[in-house]
Amino acid sequence: MTDSTVKVLALSGSLRKGSLNTALLRAASEIAPAGVTVELYDLAPIPMYNDDVRIAGYPPEVQDFRAKIAAADALLFASPEYNYSVSGVLKNAIDWASRAPNMPFDGKTGAVLGASAGALGTARSQRDLRWIMSGLNVYMVNLPHVYVGGAAQKFDAAGKLTDQATADFIKQLLENLRDLTLKLRR
Ligand SMILES: Cc1cc2nc3c(=O)[nH]c(=O)nc-3n(C[C@H](O)[C@H](O)[C@H](O)COP(=O)(O)O)c2cc1C
Repeated sequence: MTDSTVKVLALSGSLRKGSLNTALLRAASEIAPAGVTVELYDLAPIPMYNDDVRIAGYPPEVQDFRAKIAAADALLFASPEYNYSVSGVLKNAIDWASRAPNMPFDGKTGAVLGASAGALGTARSQRDLRWIMSGLNVYMVNLPHVYVGGAAQKFDAAGKLTDQATADFIKQLLENLRDLTLKLRR
């Protein structure tokens, strides 16, 4: 971190155009409080993990992804809940970024939020993401929990967040992520 701005890299576990979770991250980049920038990273080009490939040399798409994580101050995750856990898209990308050398997640801060059409707002998958991040030495913001249930009603046809309460939670989450990141850098 070269100045007091906290650079957040945002990762969506959904590749579909109309993704509620990607829309949530777009909203986060618009809502970002003072001292925070949020950049979305597209996981679509990341190949399926193969340890033989890793040993032969990280593919360029993976190198780019790992470099982006290394250059970020903090991470923001939004994944659909697939069968009670994070999507394979996100888990696959995390697996690539979790390997030596220079493990890019090590010592970063992170925050998670999520949206679903159903009531639970990805609560179960967020619990799993926190568990995964604990093993990679990512310091996750504990609160607030941002579970956006009934999310189809909280965005307009263009994918813009229309629910003020959700916007307030996202802003608070980003403020807490900023404060935790700055505190750990002191
Ligand atoms: C393979 C698959 C598994 C799913 N499993 C769950 C689940 O366990 N819990 C849940 O609330 N929704 C589940 N859903 C519904 C997704 O949460 C819903 O499709 C969500 O909108 C996807 O996120 P997105 O809009 O960001 O793409 C599942 C959907 C798919 C495709």
